[in-house]
Amino acid sequence: MRWLIAAYVRGEVADEQMSALLMAIFFRGLDPGELRVWTAAMIASGERLDLSGVGRPTVDKHSTGGVGDKVSLVLAPLVAACGGAVPQLSGRGLGHTGGTLDKLEAIPGWRAALSPAGMIAVLRRVGCVICAAGPGLAPADRKLYALRDVTGTVESIPLIASSIMSKKIAEGTAALVLDVKVGSGAFMTRIDDARELARTMVVLGEEQGVRTSALLTGMDVPLGRAVGNALEVEESVAVLRGAGPADLVEVTLALAREMLRLAGIDADPAVALADGRALERYRAMIAEQGGDPDASLPRAEVSAVVAAPEAGWLRRLDARAVGVAAWRLGAGRARKEDPVSAAAGVLYLAKPGERVEAGQPVLELRADDEALLAGARAALAGAIEVGDEPPPSAPLVIERISG
Ligand code: URA
Repeated sequence: MRWLIAAYVRGEVADEQMSALLMAIFFRGLDPGELRVWTAAMIASGERLDLSGVGRPTVDKHSTGGVGDKVSLVLAPLVAACGGAVPQLSGRGLGHTGGTLDKLEAIPGWRAALSPAGMIAVLRRVGCVICAAGPGLAPADRKLYALRDVTGTVESIPLIASSIMSKKIAEGTAALVLDVKVGSGAFMTRIDDARELARTMVVLGEEQGVRTSALLTGMDVPLGRAVGNALEVEESVAVLRGAGPADLVEVTLALAREMLRLAGIDADPAVALADGRALERYRAMIAEQGGDPDASLPRAEVSAVVAAPEAGWLRRLDARAVGVAAWRLGAGRARKEDPVSAAAGVLYLAKPGERVEAGQPVLELRADDEALLAGARAALAGAIEVGDEPPPSAPLVIERISG
């Protein structure tokens, strides 16, 4: 495996041969020893950053991705305000889930690209940085992920776990909290699969000397009310100003507590959120990368509402359907090279658990072009369920998995 991955990155092993192996792994899995060697070989394909000079305990968070998942925008500055250093290398969105870099690029002037030295400098000055991973980190993952994408081998637990963990371990963080999302808007729709993915990643992190734990969190309904790049930045800033939605605040604080625990920092993140220190770190982080934290964000040209079909309790407003609608409105991309709209997206005007009247607007669609509304409406067909009973309440933080 060590030879194979190194030779694949050098171009000596053909895609056809690697595809055959990926397909075998997809069907047969990898045993723990094989997965350990596979992941170590992926890490060794590039550089491993040394963050020992940062001067504070490093701790990062990785989310397996969900619709409207804007937690990183609040969490990184919040943990920095409590004394941690958060080196967050993030990605762009593909398909119906968004990417943190696309969200931040809605801020005029903000740039995602930093050299490793530039990233470390921001981390030292501010305590947090969110930027794109450079080409030198786990290059095997870049090649393997592209091949998995076109060979139908993405959805394999050992391949997902090694892909995520190779990048996070190469990034150099000393501790890592995984937010493994479960539900219709997530990669993993079944709790058993999410648990297995979380356990697999926690073991890989611990084996490589990174203190790692995972929270399984719900993703049947997006956190907060906004889905879309600029809309999610606005909602995150509202949380940092103390006026954010309760569910988003609850999950963010749970992840912050877990990160601080792993980093050995005794601080209450709720205090740093309430007294404005987290907001101040956020503003500094944005400004370091050329962004203007006071600039107004792009606004959509067109908006339209989707109404409740009848009166009653709103039982379900499917996260995946809303994610697909936001994507069709322009907030996401179908191919890696596509541009995204900063302003497009979907706002929840009512959320599951609230009472609605027949014809009451429950979603607001935003787009730059009226022609995109029809596709979004089609994606939402059947996504709204209204009934006589309120939906059963589900915990936001479902389970914690540690090493
Ligand atoms: N995210 C990754 O980085 N890799 C995967 O395989 C899946 C999600």
